[in-house]
Amino acid sequence: MRLGKTSNFYFATGLIVGFLSLRLLLYTGGSTKQSIQYLTHLKPHVKGEVELYHTVADEKNNTPSAPLRSVRILCWIMTGPQNLKGKAKHVKATWTRHCDKVLFMSSVETDFPTVGLNVSEGRQNLYWKTIRAFQYVHRHHFDEADWFVKADDDTFIVIENLRYVLSKYDTEEPHYLGRRFSPFVKQGYMAGGAGYVLSKEALRRFIKGFETGMCTHFSDIEDMALGQCMETMNVSAGDSRDVKMRQTFFVYPPEYHLVRQPPRPRPWYLLYDHYPVSEGPACCSDFTISFHYLSPDMQYVLYYLTYHLRPYGYKYRFNPDKKNT
Ligand SMILES: *[C@@H]1O[C@H](CO)[C@@H](O)[C@H](O)[C@H]1NC(C)=O
Ligand SMILES: *[C@@H]1O[C@H](CO)[C@@H](O)[C@H](O)[C@H]1NC(C)=O
Repeated sequence: MRLGKTSNFYFATGLIVGFLSLRLLLYTGGSTKQSIQYLTHLKPHVKGEVELYHTVADEKNNTPSAPLRSVRILCWIMTGPQNLKGKAKHVKATWTRHCDKVLFMSSVETDFPTVGLNVSEGRQNLYWKTIRAFQYVHRHHFDEADWFVKADDDTFIVIENLRYVLSKYDTEEPHYLGRRFSPFVKQGYMAGGAGYVLSKEALRRFIKGFETGMCTHFSDIEDMALGQCMETMNVSAGDSRDVKMRQTFFVYPPEYHLVRQPPRPRPWYLLYDHYPVSEGPACCSDFTISFHYLSPDMQYVLYYLTYHLRPYGYKYRFNPDKKNT
């Protein structure tokens, strides 16, 4: 589903959405009421972000914040031989430098470096790639991180904001977070393109699911199929919204969510969304975690806006040259 093929995409989407409307009705009653308070009682461990965090926290209460637990994040990027130069190279040069560990997963091992998984390329093999990637990560890097993120080579993630959301969860409990969609899976599933994250226990259960045959490759639809396995293995779908109930994971680039669109058919992701959604300026948390379908240029633009641009007069800013995370 590339933006360049918008008309095909909307046509196909229309069909799918029509087909799904009935199923959606079955699930709309199931949203979690649990409200997320993580912004009110935690302090960032990156000094430069203190001011921003306090702005939001102070709205709720003025109690002193507890220190943020250290949260090690392994990022693995879904890519392929044809995407290394055009896409993977640019996420390697930008946000993935903030991950504690980063792996580029491909069908072929190269000195990019990429990990060569035993799978063929192609959309229909995406879920196999994800299964093999998580098995590889579990076998070789399980002790190196507390949380395990899957992202595409055209996703942008603000790792510090992800750490912040994750710091309220225990990685030894089965959790899984991202942009939560409703259909197909009872508790919903996390949209693939916005990136999703598994706790240590969630990853253990994913591996066990395939070892025991409780999970199978029953569909090519990678994010939904993984979500089904999560549910089967009793991994809970977490709520990653901020205190104002604004979303943090996004399936499109920022302008698509931020700028109110002229009247148009409701985009498919609004129908899929598990929680109520705003379009326009209220769409997005100040602690947004991810956007998707970004051009390489936008990777650098977002990196600059996230880590460099600021209004004059603010004292603190994350300094990427000083590795203080
Ligand atoms: C790769 O997959 C093929 C077919 O499933 C299998 O026969 C082979 O043993 C696998 N190789 C490795 C290194 O896992
Ligand atoms: C998930 O939880 C249900 C209900 O507690 C239990 O019956 C089932 O065995 C659990 N499944 C797994 C894979 O742990």
